[in-house]
Amino acid sequence: MKVLVIGSGGREHALCWTLKKSPLIERLFCAPGNGGIEEVADCVDIGAEDIEKIVDFSKMEAIDFVVIGPEVPLVMGLADKLSEAGIRSFGPSAAAAALEGSKGFMKDLCRKNNIPTAAYQRFDNPDEAKAYVARNTFPIVIKADGLAAGKGVIIAGSLSEANETIDEIFGGLFGGAGAEIVIEEFMEGEEASFFVLTDGENILPLATAQDHKAVGDGDTGPNTGGMGAYSPAPVMTPEMIDATIDRIIKPTIAAMKKQGIPFTGVLYAGLMITKDGPKLIEYNVRFGDPECQVLCARMGSDLLPALVATTNESLADVKLQWRDETALVVVMAAHGYPGAYEKNTTIKGLGAAAAIDDVLAFHAGTKREGDTVLATGGRVLGITGLGKTVKQAQKKAYSGVDAIDWPQGFCRSDIGWRAVKREEQGQ
Ligand code: AMP
Ligand code: GLY
Repeated sequence: MKVLVIGSGGREHALCWTLKKSPLIERLFCAPGNGGIEEVADCVDIGAEDIEKIVDFSKMEAIDFVVIGPEVPLVMGLADKLSEAGIRSFGPSAAAAALEGSKGFMKDLCRKNNIPTAAYQRFDNPDEAKAYVARNTFPIVIKADGLAAGKGVIIAGSLSEANETIDEIFGGLFGGAGAEIVIEEFMEGEEASFFVLTDGENILPLATAQDHKAVGDGDTGPNTGGMGAYSPAPVMTPEMIDATIDRIIKPTIAAMKKQGIPFTGVLYAGLMITKDGPKLIEYNVRFGDPECQVLCARMGSDLLPALVATTNESLADVKLQWRDETALVVVMAAHGYPGAYEKNTTIKGLGAAAAIDDVLAFHAGTKREGDTVLATGGRVLGITGLGKTVKQAQKKAYSGVDAIDWPQGFCRSDIGWRAVKREEQGQ
């Protein structure tokens, strides 16, 4: 098969690295790719949001299957446009991608189908929103309805903070994504992610993971796209997984089908594990980044047939094997991220990191110039380790980080801390 992967992050490097191993691959392309993806796929200089060029390229190269990594092209309708051109792709239609593209759509679907999630209201003007928060308790959670690169959520600790946030969002803080807002109850608990593949009817549970969104150690500082992750997440016990599938995932897939917008691709549920069981924080309609790196590191089967099966209602026939180990990824980012950072700094030591047993060095914001690898983005590398325990996977990943020579980069030093603590307490 000729396969084209769309995107340029660590997620897409992990996907390309995994797909490249498939005996079904005849040729693997990635648009636009990055400095690491170049080693496993032919990178094509087309942006992930350049829908027209992607469709033209796919037709020209007679691509059999397109794997869409990020959410923006999905919400823009890339899967629909490819389908109109007779090209199969992994990922939902624009209508079904509203599960991520509109928090209000997702919350309404939960309400209609009794799916456990935080209580909420939708608002399209500041006055009603302010009147609502004045009647509520704090902290309270205020979210832009649309896509905001994972940054559109503000937890307001007081009425004045909430009012300020409402003004800022309606004032354009998140552009058009904030034309409508969702205000919701603050849920307490531990967060976890759960991933399933679906063909619109059947589901194939993949795995659990936990992500570290905050930039600083101890989960402090502003939120980022994700500074590290590990899989599996011990907080997701078999009971929690069953409850998530029965109360959250299955009703969602059934409701989408009933509404005439079947969801296909990967559904990523962001969960809060509360004292009343799992509750849905949000849906994403694509793999997580960096969670995809740890899922791919643990993948023991050919992933390509499973992705293809989401497009032809044959997922019920697919089985995937997982490596028994824990995988843990530490993201190395450029100093200043998630704010402004320097670009085009030189990274050394990638070969030494990748040479360590059970260490994988995935690239995110990098490019190659001759033999030199340069950092071009905020999140730059995803150093991934495998181990029998979370502690061992953590040790492996950080041994990879130690081999990297990149003075302009930083990482958190405590990725996996909750699970390591659990292991130490023998839970
Ligand atoms: P989201 O982009 O919706 O995943 O939200 C980003 C982060 O905000 C989540 O990972 C949570 O840490 C936090 N968050 C979102 N909604 C809630 C909620 N209702 N209660 C508590 N924390 C939340
Ligand atoms: N790591 C969080 C996300 O991909 O949305």
